[in-house]
Amino acid sequence: MTADLLIHNALIVNEGARFRGWVAVTGGFISAVGRDDAPQELLQGAAETVDAQGRFLLPGAIDEHVHFRDPGLTHKADMACETAAAAAGGVTSFIDMPNTIPQSTTRAAVADKMHRAAAVATANYGFYIGATNDNIDELTAADFSTIAGVKLFLGSSTGNMLVDSNQTIRRIFEDVDALIAVHAESEAIIAENRSRFKAERGDNLPVELHPLIRSRRACFEATKAAVEMARATGARLHVLHISTADELALFTPGAVESKRITAETCPQYLLFDDGDYAERGARVKCNPAIKSPLDRAALLEAVATGRIDCVATDHAPHLLAEKQGNALTAVSGMPMIQFSLPAMLTLADEGAFTIEKVVETMAHNPARLYGIVGRGFIRQGCYADLALVERADTVVSDADVLSRCGWTPLAGIMLRYRVASTWLNGRRVWDGHRVDPTVRGMALRYCRKP
Ligand code: DOR
Ligand code: ZN
Repeated sequence: MTADLLIHNALIVNEGARFRGWVAVTGGFISAVGRDDAPQELLQGAAETVDAQGRFLLPGAIDEHVHFRDPGLTHKADMACETAAAAAGGVTSFIDMPNTIPQSTTRAAVADKMHRAAAVATANYGFYIGATNDNIDELTAADFSTIAGVKLFLGSSTGNMLVDSNQTIRRIFEDVDALIAVHAESEAIIAENRSRFKAERGDNLPVELHPLIRSRRACFEATKAAVEMARATGARLHVLHISTADELALFTPGAVESKRITAETCPQYLLFDDGDYAERGARVKCNPAIKSPLDRAALLEAVATGRIDCVATDHAPHLLAEKQGNALTAVSGMPMIQFSLPAMLTLADEGAFTIEKVVETMAHNPARLYGIVGRGFIRQGCYADLALVERADTVVSDADVLSRCGWTPLAGIMLRYRVASTWLNGRRVWDGHRVDPTVRGMALRYCRKP
């Protein structure tokens, strides 16, 4: 038995199991997985052998919610640097959002992004097609074996992509045979809150008011309406970045495969609460807003119990210069992709949930939910997308950030894990110190069961 690569003496965490074992890689795929010591013939016959020294070997994370800003906003970020940040964070696949310039609301615009990614990305790439008030024909004609799903903004955020025609929303839910990923915040409730605060306190509203302007009720009402419409139409709905305890009642625990309605949250809602605005200011300003400690506690529990299916980052880099100002003027969004896996493992260390659950919500479930072909698991026959993770106390600093924006909301925070190596389609793309820019990702393919 030979292999291109043998990783042995690893603590493999996969599909709810944790065992000491080894993984053999041939031609970019996992050719064998075993328990305990690797067979002698493999140890001798493999072209390259890596002794994991008991560190965790996980399937590479699949971040199904990122804003890489490419094309059109490359002063903030681009596919080359953001996928370098992904590789350094153990993230081997991403699905990018349509609020770029131009917006990816046509099949041609999505195809253009695919070409850009193919040329530079050090992670496997996927894209949403964005819904608008008048592009239903593009959505119904799209090939959802190559496009991840439809992104629908039910609530405006960065990029001005609000779909506010109820009739259009209903048609999308009824006619588009794809996963519909929604940003759910009620525009009417937000507008009402904003006017009230402005009338009471003027225009210079502190960032602390952000979660009261983009309120819990704004989230709950929009998510409830989306869930009701999905129930009425039978649509396949995925609600992004759940940020409140209240919304959780709208979802059910259980296996992703058995659900038509699923939920995502992001590490920032699990790490921070409204007490953090005082110290971190607009660095932790995002839409939906980070809310109360009670919301945070409920979200942590919902990840543990499977009511939340996926943890993705909503990686939304902006320049620090754009993050100045108040609740009305500072832009919303933060870079997260480089530290999401170590941060989630740190929360696991603190007892919030198990490492198996981190792997499930960050690799297995995104793969299942989008029907991503051949990724998200450490299984024979899957692509060799792997993250080797070690326990090491590391204080995060802006200087570590590979994203173009050069800052992180986690600055000063101690994480308990770091990514020692990342393999992408069998090639080592991150060795713990640097990204190999010659490694290329592949286009994601989707095979969703009806
Ligand atoms: O905070 C956010 N930033 N929320 C969004 O929905 C969009 C994102 C961005 O693109 O900046
Ligand atoms: Zn987003």
